[in-house]
Amino acid sequence: MIEYKGVVSCDGKNSSRELFRIASAGPADGKEAVWPFMGTVILVTSGKGGVGKSTLSALLGQAFSTLGKRTLIVELDAGLRCLDLFLGFGEDVVFNLADVFSGTCGAADAMIRVPSFEGLYVLPAPARADKPIPAERLAQACRSLSSAFDLVLVDAPAGVGPLVRAAASAADRALIVTGADPLSSRDAYVTKELLTEAGCTDCRLVINRVAPVGRTRKKLPDLDQIIDRAKVRLIGVLPESEQIRSSLLQGKPLPPESPEQQIFSAIAARLLGRNIPLIISEKSLQRRIYK
Ligand SMILES: Nc1ncnc2c1ncn2[C@@H]1O[C@H](COP(=O)(O)OP(=O)(O)OP(=O)(O)O)[C@@H](O)[C@H]1O
Ligand SMILES: [Mg+2]
Repeated sequence: MIEYKGVVSCDGKNSSRELFRIASAGPADGKEAVWPFMGTVILVTSGKGGVGKSTLSALLGQAFSTLGKRTLIVELDAGLRCLDLFLGFGEDVVFNLADVFSGTCGAADAMIRVPSFEGLYVLPAPARADKPIPAERLAQACRSLSSAFDLVLVDAPAGVGPLVRAAASAADRALIVTGADPLSSRDAYVTKELLTEAGCTDCRLVINRVAPVGRTRKKLPDLDQIIDRAKVRLIGVLPESEQIRSSLLQGKPLPPESPEQQIFSAIAARLLGRNIPLIISEKSLQRRIYK
């Protein structure tokens, strides 16, 4: 079933219909995909910094929890942690991932249960960069954590350093986040190549902060071009959204019925193997919603 309603140009290798088909991430015969996802490790990564990895990790974690999946978010960004604020549990952090590796506490002691979300936990990054996370032990740790959860989302620091390569070697899939600009999408391509070398071959692209451009401010950036440059299959498009920004700043969930919430639910459902169409229409453009 193709419900794509134009706006993105149709030329190039990733035609709009192709873009739609890719985004649905289901099998070609229209049946629901049945993918094994118990204990799936998903690495959330990007080439460029600040493009929305932690945003996606936090809000996707909430969406998985709402779908009834036990989910753990492992935050790797030592010294730059933010999930405690994004998910509203800042006061509760006692231990962190570095403490687990140093043997100061067990993994369960360091995990924080996210308020209001059943089965959603975070293993926070250390607040200081001088508390190292040993890359050589990370892959084993991710695999072992995945036995206790339906999903383990690994919120990576920018780039493909030793920690990200280690996480990639344990990941079943990577989500590569890009902005809707040439530099960020080219970095997404380089990231995909490096992740593949590290052993993670199943990559999907999330284009974030898409906003209308042009003098009339009625045109979308050319998403086909971004996908062509990144050479990664699309799984979701997120709008530039005041709702997303303010929810994260206040550490509050997105309103349950908000269009933004529906976008994250759709991405989560695609990752669980369901065939959910990506619809970008004139109406959604005006409302900045790309479900
Ligand atoms: N779709 C969006 N709409 C509005 N603001 C957004 C959106 N996505 C991300 N942001 C904002 O952009 C900022 C950076 O996002 P985020 O921290 O998720 O990026 P990151 O890729 O994790 O950064 P880093 O590379 O430092 O880890 C945050 O303040 C966040 O609120
Ligand atoms: Mg981050």
